[in-house]
Amino acid sequence: MAAWSQLQLQKLKPSPRALIVVKRIGQISSLIRLMLFLKLLLGAYRHVYAYGILGTGNQIYTGIKNIIVRIILKLPSSKAEMAKELAKTRSGLKASLAPDTFPEGIELNGTRSIPEQGHDIEWLRKEFTNLHKLDRGDVEGGRVSGAVYHGGQELSSIINEASANFVISNALHPDVFPGVRKMEAELVSMVVKLFHGDVTGACGTTTSGGTESIIMSVKTHRDWARATKGVKEPEMVVPVTAHAAFWKAAEYFCIKIHTVPVDPVTRQVDPKLMKRFINPNTIMIVGSAPNFPDGMIDRIPELGQLAKRYNVGLHVDCCLGSFIISFAERAGFTEGIPKFDFQVPGVTAISCDTHKYAFCPKGTSVIMYRSKELRRFQFFCKSDWSGGVYASPSIAGSRPGAVLAGAWAVVNHIGIDGYTESAKQIIGAARHFKGELKKRFAADLQVVGDPQLSVIAFSSKTLNIYAVGDRMSKKGWHLNALNQPAGLHMAFTRLTAASVDSLLDDLAAAIKEEKASPEAATGNLVALYGVGQTPAGPVVVEEVALSFLDILYE
Ligand SMILES: *Cc1c(COP(=O)(O)O)cnc(C)c1O
Ligand SMILES: *[C@@H]1O[C@H](CO)[C@@H](O)[C@H](O)[C@H]1NC(C)=O
Repeated sequence: MAAWSQLQLQKLKPSPRALIVVKRIGQISSLIRLMLFLKLLLGAYRHVYAYGILGTGNQIYTGIKNIIVRIILKLPSSKAEMAKELAKTRSGLKASLAPDTFPEGIELNGTRSIPEQGHDIEWLRKEFTNLHKLDRGDVEGGRVSGAVYHGGQELSSIINEASANFVISNALHPDVFPGVRKMEAELVSMVVKLFHGDVTGACGTTTSGGTESIIMSVKTHRDWARATKGVKEPEMVVPVTAHAAFWKAAEYFCIKIHTVPVDPVTRQVDPKLMKRFINPNTIMIVGSAPNFPDGMIDRIPELGQLAKRYNVGLHVDCCLGSFIISFAERAGFTEGIPKFDFQVPGVTAISCDTHKYAFCPKGTSVIMYRSKELRRFQFFCKSDWSGGVYASPSIAGSRPGAVLAGAWAVVNHIGIDGYTESAKQIIGAARHFKGELKKRFAADLQVVGDPQLSVIAFSSKTLNIYAVGDRMSKKGWHLNALNQPAGLHMAFTRLTAASVDSLLDDLAAAIKEEKASPEAATGNLVALYGVGQTPAGPVVVEEVALSFLDILYE
């Protein structure tokens, strides 16, 4: 700068005043550079403070490793190799997900083009029958973890009748469909009361599912922090066991997300550790009640204290907990279940998936906030839109009244008694499973954490747990695979609660088989998660997972 200024000054022969101005500019520019440097330093300091020297070193190592892997994979030789491997995996995936030909006896005539002449209802019915023949996984027989939470015939007909009644309605137009508005408002109010929000003045909206509820909450806290604290570079802090939807939201909204490890034994996030990740840019912290991977409930009361002390939001993810955790007390299960809802000071938002343990049709969830002021930050309004004044509560514009009617009907039909009974059955089955794992399978399987609700995860020190999962698949079971630690979990539902004993028997058989021939394992889980263990693993797994999404549309 100095040399440049002098050169210019000689050329221009400036007045003394101009000289001062130039000097000022020089000073300001050095000041800006100093500030940028300090900001960088502050960022680095915060990072090392939160992750520790070892953690930061590890991150740098992983980052460099991934860059190198990506470079190596781009080399012509390895690119060809990788393309060959991926093509193999891809065709395997394609054959299993979207085959071109169907098994004997399944005749499907639908095509990828709009038919010239429309088909009649008889044609459609035949197609439906045949499309259902493709279904895999014994859902009705209670062999699929999670996915379908109730499945009873009576409830299905109630949902059908409710939806049929409102099949053409659109919740975007409450003036045209006031009945739908009333049902939606009642549904939200019922859920808010269940989570003790009525006493604190809490409120909420419906959304299309847990992911949208979480995305809305992140957006709401971001806008709240900007408006009330001037946060322009938002950050959020989540336990490693939080749902993937938080990373999705962070990616969509360009929010920096910090992942806090959980205690290896309790599988809960340590509030003292979480505290280290909070800084003036933090908009929110997250706890799960319970989390998806291992069904553990985070220490919500302590997280609430943190949130209050640092004036940040606390989202409690009860997407899965929904009508299980909120009915546990009524069902007689209190030990090991801390307070988790609006009774806890500091909780600012709760997501509850009515399409999980409230047994409502898929496509319904409720996002709740402690106050109406906070909920305001979720809303969108374009008052000068050429299409008229436009205001909408959540991501969707037009919203189906049919699923809202279905959800409203289900909650009204089942009632407090029905949900209490369900919670007894489901938690009862999960605890029976947990107890038996510890009794019968202690030599080979370890329960992850000490889960109290409906999800029980287990890992193994002696066996390849993914191979056990593949063997269970061959027996008709569908368990969820987990990462870090490698494991499997079962989410008990109304359907699976009844089949817990046959699950245990088949698990015993699978373990016996695996011990007899541990090298024989070649299933989907072993294939996918086996790749993950190699150095190129994470990059390759990502590639496979993305081509899986491409295949969905073939
Ligand atoms: C299912 C689930 C979600 C996301 O819900 P979707 O309805 O699948 O979008 C979020 N958090 C937890 C803990 C869940 O189990
Ligand atoms: C599908 O098409 C074949 C041949 O055109 C026909 O014989 C069969 O009845 C059709 N099946 C259905 C379900 O419409």
